[in-house]
Formats: sequence, structure tokens, C-alpha cells
Amino acid sequence: MSRHDIQVHINGRTQHATVEGRLTLSDFLRGVAGCTGVHVGCEHGVCGACTVIVDGAAVRSCLMLAVQADGTRITTVEGLADADGTLHPVQQALRDEYGLQCGFCTPGIVMTLAALTAGATRPEPAQVMNALSGHICRCTGYQGIRRAALRLCGIAPSSPEQAHG
Ligand code: FES
Ligand code: FES
Repeated sequence: MSRHDIQVHINGRTQHATVEGRLTLSDFLRGVAGCTGVHVGCEHGVCGACTVIVDGAAVRSCLMLAVQADGTRITTVEGLADADGTLHPVQQALRDEYGLQCGFCTPGIVMTLAALTAGATRPEPAQVMNALSGHICRCTGYQGIRRAALRLCGIAPSSPEQAHG
């Protein structure tokens, strides 16, 4: 079994580890780095629950090997809120719009939206909806998530058409 030394920057701290070549990034983050906010559902890139940000891009961590993450900067949902507990705007929007229920899908959705809204310009609603289409939620019916996403685009989802259309 091949083993590899890796160094990864996770949520502002540096982690060194020796990992098997077959270890997925999702299992590394949960089992080695202790980031259990990284949820694992389908394990084959469909549900989006395991999404984290790697060097600025939203990535399905079940489809990446830990060894491939060597030298990268990773943000998981644990690294988003401020140290004083102030929520990231994406987290706040989902909270305000009741965009979660059991919470299993939520960290992945949060990380996708956080990556999408990290730039200087606001994403277009179509971009955000397209990104959300890669996430499966079994609880909410998506409307609260959709309202939160529209808010992040600068659209107050106050009209029934925007909120529920
Ligand atoms: S667990 Fe990675 S996409 Fe479903
Ligand atoms: S809130 Fe339960 S799966 Fe989305």
C-alpha cells in the first residue's frame, strides 16, 4: 500500500499527515483533520454534501484524493464563521430564509455558495441556480435555499414570484 506525506492548510492551520494513496479527501478531512462538517452522502460526486473549497474552487471532496490536496489551502464549513461566531453571509442568508432542515446537505451548499460569492462581483441568479442544481436536499423542497441564494445575488426574495417561482 503506497503511503504519502502531505501538508495541507485547513481553515487557517497547517496539517501534516501520512496518508494512503487511496484515501479520499473527504475521509481525510473527517477522519484525520476532524472536520466532521464535511458530510459524506453518495461518495460518487452526485449529492454535493461533501463540497469544500480547495484553492478558491468548490470541490467535491469525495472525488479527490487526499494526496492530490498536498500543498493546497482548504476551507471547510468549520472555517467560514468569524472567530466571534458571526456567521458568513451565506450561512446567515440560509438561516434567515429557513434554507435548512436536517442540515445534512447544508455544509456542501454553504461551501458552493461561499465559493461562488467570494469574488468582487455578485453572481447572476442563473449562475447560482446552476450551482445549486448539483446539490441534493431531501428535506426542504429547496425553496428556502433558493430564497437565500437570490438574496446573495442582491435580490430580495420578497415577491412571491421570486421566492416561489
Ligand atoms: S458525498 Fe461527495 S458528492 Fe455526494
Ligand atoms: S436539509 Fe435535510 S437534506 Fe437538506
